[in-house]
Amino acid sequence: ITVYIPRDTAAVAMGAHEIAQQLAAQAQERGLDIQIVRNGSRGLLWLEPLVEVQTAAGRVAYGPVQTEDLPGLFDAGFLQGGTHKLCHGLTDAIPYLKNQERLTFARVGIIDPVSVADYQACGGFEGLSKALAMETAAIVKEVTDSGLRGRGGAAFPTGIKWNTVLNTPAQQKYIVCNADEGDSGTFSDRMLMEGDPLCLIEGMTIAGLAVGATYGYIYVRSEYPLAVQALNEAIEAARAAGWLGKNIQGSGYEFDLEVRKAAGAYICGEETALLDSLEGKRGMVRVKPPLPAIKGLFGQPTVINNVVSLASVPVILAKGGAYYQNYGMGRSRGTLAFQLTGNLQNGGLVEKAFGVTLRELLYDYGGGSASGRPLRAVQVGGPLGAYLPEHQWDVPLDYETYMKINAMVGHGGLVAFDDTVDMAHMAQYAMEFCAIESCGKCTPCRIGSTRGVETIQKIRRREDMDNHVELLRDLCDTMFSGSLCALGGMTPYPVLSALEHFPQDFGLAPQTEQ
Ligand code: NAI
Ligand code: SF4
Repeated sequence: ITVYIPRDTAAVAMGAHEIAQQLAAQAQERGLDIQIVRNGSRGLLWLEPLVEVQTAAGRVAYGPVQTEDLPGLFDAGFLQGGTHKLCHGLTDAIPYLKNQERLTFARVGIIDPVSVADYQACGGFEGLSKALAMETAAIVKEVTDSGLRGRGGAAFPTGIKWNTVLNTPAQQKYIVCNADEGDSGTFSDRMLMEGDPLCLIEGMTIAGLAVGATYGYIYVRSEYPLAVQALNEAIEAARAAGWLGKNIQGSGYEFDLEVRKAAGAYICGEETALLDSLEGKRGMVRVKPPLPAIKGLFGQPTVINNVVSLASVPVILAKGGAYYQNYGMGRSRGTLAFQLTGNLQNGGLVEKAFGVTLRELLYDYGGGSASGRPLRAVQVGGPLGAYLPEHQWDVPLDYETYMKINAMVGHGGLVAFDDTVDMAHMAQYAMEFCAIESCGKCTPCRIGSTRGVETIQKIRRREDMDNHVELLRDLCDTMFSGSLCALGGMTPYPVLSALEHFPQDFGLAPQTEQ
C-alpha cells in the first residue's frame, strides 16, 4: 500500500515529518506493509498535512491529519480508503483541485519530487527530448509562440528575452534562475522547487540549449532550506540519469547547474542586484542598460528568469507553443499559479488560465474570509501591488486589464483582509517596507520612503491634513518617476490605491464607489 505524505515546507510546518514517522511505526505494529512516498504539496494548504492513500479507484485524501488522529484512521481502514471524518474522498475530485488548469504544476503533489522514473512516467523530459532534436532558433520560436511572459511579475515576453541572448555572441553564456521569492503572500516558486524540482532543471536545460549556454545557477532565498535540499537531490538524480552534465542523453550537448543560497535581502530578487550577489558582491541595483541579456553574470549574456517561467517551458516544448497559447486572454497567455493567502478559509495554490476574477478566487476557491467577517481589500502582486476594493473584484486577471486600473498581477500572490483592516496603516506599512528593504542607491526611494512613513503618520494623526495628503501624492509621484528599480518605483501603488479606495481610513471623506 502506498501512502503519500508531503515533504513540502507548508506540510512540514504543520507536522508532516512526525506524521510520516508515526504512521510508519504504527503500521509496523499492526503488521501492515506500507510504502511512504514524500511527495510535494497538492496546494490545499488548509488541509496540510494531507495524507493520501493509493486505492484502486485513485488516491483518497485525509487531512489535516495530526498524530492523535492516526489510531482512529487505522481503525477506520484508511489504508483501503475507508470513511473517516478527515476523509475528503478522491483527491482529484476535490473541487479546489478539479477546477484548476494545471499545466506548470501538473506533477506537483503527484510524484516523488526527486525520482527521475516518476518524473518521466508523468511526461518529464519530453520537452527536453524534443528540444535536443531542434535548432536553437526553433526552440526560441516555440517559446515565443506560446506567449509566455515573465512570471516573476514584470511579464516581459520570455521568447524575446531568449532571442536577445541567442543573438549576442559570447564564449560563455549563463542561465540564471531567480528563486529569491520575496513577495509577501507568494509561495509558488517554493512549491514548484519542492514538489517538482526536475521540471525547473529541465526548463533551465532547454533554455541553455536554446541560447547556447552551458551553465546555470539557481539563486534560492536562504529561508527556503527544504527547496535547496530538494533541488540538490534532484540535480544529483538528473546527473546520474544522464539528463545533466557533459553529454546529455548522448546528444553531445552539455549543460550543468548549481544552487546558490541567497542571504535574505529583498532587493536581491531584483535581477541586477541578484547578479551582483551571485558574483560575490553586495547586492546593489545596476543601471540598465546594459540588459543582463547582453551583459549579465560576470559580464556575459545571461538569461535570467523566474522559477515559474522556466518551469513552464517543458510543457510548452512537449505539447507545443500553440497548446499553451490556447489558454488565457488578451496578451496574457497560458496560466498563472495564483497564491491565496491572508484572511481566507482555504488558502493555497490555484493554477488557472488568465481571465479568472478575484471574486472567483476569493470565494469559489478561497471560501471567503477565515474570520467569518466580510472581506474588504485584497492586495494583488506582492508588497508593491495595489489594494483592490470589492468593486474591482470582477475585473479579469490579465496583465493589461490590471494596468488599466493601476493595479498589477505581478507574481500572482493574493493577500486578503476583512473589514477590520486599517488601510492607512497598510499604506504606512508599504512605505516602511520600502524604507527597510531599500538598497540606498537612489534618493527618491532611500529618503522618500522614510519621509513617506512620517507623512502617513501625520495624516493618521490628522495633522494639517490637506497639505500632508498633497505632499504624500507628490512624494509618490517622485518615487514613481525617479526611482531606479521597482522597489521605489512601485511602492506608490499600494499607498495610492489605499488612499484612493479607502479615504475614510485616512480621515478623508469617503467616495461613492460604483
Ligand atoms: P523590467 O520590466 O525592467 O524587466 C523585465 C525583464 O525583461 C528583465 O529581465 C529585463 O532584463 C528584461 N528585458 C527588458 N527588455 C529586454 C530586451 N529588449 N531584451 C531582453 N530582455 C529584456 O522589470 P524588472 O525590474 O526586472 O521587474 C519588476 C517586477 O518584478 C515588478 O513588476 C514586480 O512585479 C516584480 N517583483 C517580483 C518579486 C518576486 O518576489 N517575485 C519581488 C519584487 C518585484
Ligand atoms: Fe535601490 Fe530603491 Fe533605488 Fe531600487 S529604487 S535602486 S531599491 S534605492
